[in-house]
Amino acid sequence: MDSPIGVMDSGVGGLTVAKEIMRQLPDEEILYFGDLKRCPYGDRPMEEVKQYTVEVTDYLVKCGVKMIVIACNTATASALHLLEQRYDIPVIGVINPGARSAIQNSINHNVIVLATKVTVDSEAYKAAIQDINSDFKIYSLACPKFVPLVEEMRYKDKVIVRIALHQTLKHLVGSKADTIILGCTHYPLLADEIRDYFNGRKNVIDSGYETAREVSSILTFRKAHASGRTGKTHTMIVNGDSGRFEYILNDWMPFIEYTMEEIDIGG
Ligand code: DGL
Repeated sequence: MDSPIGVMDSGVGGLTVAKEIMRQLPDEEILYFGDLKRCPYGDRPMEEVKQYTVEVTDYLVKCGVKMIVIACNTATASALHLLEQRYDIPVIGVINPGARSAIQNSINHNVIVLATKVTVDSEAYKAAIQDINSDFKIYSLACPKFVPLVEEMRYKDKVIVRIALHQTLKHLVGSKADTIILGCTHYPLLADEIRDYFNGRKNVIDSGYETAREVSSILTFRKAHASGRTGKTHTMIVNGDSGRFEYILNDWMPFIEYTMEEIDIGG
């Protein structure tokens, strides 16, 4: 089936998931929506995040996508259950895939979740992991400094990143957890620094790989994979200023062909 896969995030973070979908499923076309105008979602009331997410996914559904990937933990924690009921196409989030990946990788069943405030308060990772394996102990930490580092294009400044990581993570250096979940799709852009900060001693989990696998399984089950490479380009829809988005997109995924649409929705 040649309709695109809809992927959404508050900003550029979901590109870390889109990149993995493109790697595992190169025949698929992606229609990506970045809600930059209202980013960050992570410090807003959950009801507001839910409303924004529904506006974005309604937009993607109107564009004719064949499934939706909520490539944003905050939006997943706030709205996934609602969206699963709302549409008759498959909708998946990034929290269950991230939880499964942590369970596969942790030996001592002690996991740290780094995420936005909304995701931490929702305890969605704790529920997703303990539903599968109740032996796991989860410690969650909100990291409000991290998303602005990425969205404001400061993620390449090693000194600034190191300071922000130290201010946020210093009390976790001696933690016995062997696994850290990057519970926000912006954080994989800081993954190398986070790994180094813990001297490479902890598994660092990014849900992109497992989410792309889930996309693949769903398309196989529904016999809905794209019929072959047809030279199509991906489409990037940005609510707000596309300049910053395009800079990060070109830096992070220089190999892709895309068209860019700038739109203006929401107050
Ligand atoms: N990338 C999003 C997430 O995975 C959220 C960033 C934000 O808007 O606060 O949670």
